[in-house]
Amino acid sequence: MMASIKRNSHLTFKHNKSLGRHGWLRLTPAYSVKMVERIISELGYFPECVLDSFSGTGTTELVCANKNIPSVAYDINPFLVWLANMKCAIYEPNVIKQLFESAERISEAVSDICPCDYPPVYNIGRWWHSRQLNYLARIKAAVWEEKNNQVSGLLKIIFCRLVIALSNATFNHISTSFNGSEDSCDFTDEEGNSMFLLFCQMIADTITEQPIASALIENRDSIYLPDEIIGQFDTVITSPPYPNRISYIRELRPYMYWLDFLHTPDEAGILDWKTIGGTWGKATSNLSAWKMKTDLLPDYLFRIAERISSAENKSAGLMSKYVLKYFDDIAMHMRSTYAAIRDGGTVHYIAGNSSFYGNVVPTEKIYKNILSSVGFQDAKSVTVRKRNCNKALYEYWISARK
Ligand SMILES: C[S@@+](CC[C@H](N)C(=O)[O-])C[C@H]1O[C@@H](n2cnc3c(N)ncnc32)[C@H](O)[C@@H]1O
Repeated sequence: MMASIKRNSHLTFKHNKSLGRHGWLRLTPAYSVKMVERIISELGYFPECVLDSFSGTGTTELVCANKNIPSVAYDINPFLVWLANMKCAIYEPNVIKQLFESAERISEAVSDICPCDYPPVYNIGRWWHSRQLNYLARIKAAVWEEKNNQVSGLLKIIFCRLVIALSNATFNHISTSFNGSEDSCDFTDEEGNSMFLLFCQMIADTITEQPIASALIENRDSIYLPDEIIGQFDTVITSPPYPNRISYIRELRPYMYWLDFLHTPDEAGILDWKTIGGTWGKATSNLSAWKMKTDLLPDYLFRIAERISSAENKSAGLMSKYVLKYFDDIAMHMRSTYAAIRDGGTVHYIAGNSSFYGNVVPTEKIYKNILSSVGFQDAKSVTVRKRNCNKALYEYWISARK
């Protein structure tokens, strides 16, 4: 049966690129608008309030807000919280005019502006050639002077687009590679300005259509949901990290350093340790001292962990702990989600399986077991798509009812 499951790239972040605000900035692990629309259309009821505990770029919230469904969402990453709130905001009528005026002013003055300090990105010369770097630092200095909150936020989104457009990085698959040599670089302020104004036009085009319902995205750890939300939601639609060692910090570093959300590599490691499945810097070494907190994991997961641990690889022991910690965190999250949901409400998780040294970790089965252990009923899963060239990797829609 699995052989007939396709990659369905329309169910990934790729589908969002041309969909208005959804396409502002790319995050590889974002799911697609279509996935959220499909879940909503198959609920069999119109949700009163949706909870998304892992909001990332805010796909769930923006889809819900456009369909007049209020939502509340959390994410551990403050940059993503800022971005998702920007995407779901209702903009004042004259904001587009003010945005163009401000962008014109900045582009006319940019040659005379004093650059801000360069961000403390490791090996920054690999990311940007010196002219592009200097141009970005001057644009940033000007953008940070903007006093109107909404205009300043939109200029920062445009600035993020420039940061990537002017970088040497190519984002293929999950890794980042760098092209180009300093000698081939003949970049001018005029080229930078025409990109800046083009992005300004693109972003302005996406804010004419306004969301209808409210979306509130907060910076919070969803392993433990707050007591104030007990019984508040009838639906969860969310996509947690997968147990596959992909670090969000890795992809978001350029934005987070330029926008002052990160100042040192240590901060990145600390944030990734709080992230479920985080694996950047210190997050991996911290694993050796980690201890299990719940008794909610199924027995067969410990047998899988033992097999991973006995693989012939120097990191095998750590990877085995990585998998157990991932599901222990998810179990705590699901236990507190049970309290947040009203009787009769439903939960919907999009998550992928993984494989360590040939040992498949069946995320969909483990999620169903944990959902049942914390009290949910009718836990089931549907295979949504094949993930990449590894034959064993799929993405699932796992759901249950309270
Ligand atoms: C797969 S992404 C979500 C993508 C999102 N559905 C979208 O379309 O952009 C998972 C998100 O979970 C967040 N996350 C990881 N651990 C978390 C935690 N303990 N509490 C809250 N959010 C967390 C990550 O920062 C990341 O943004």
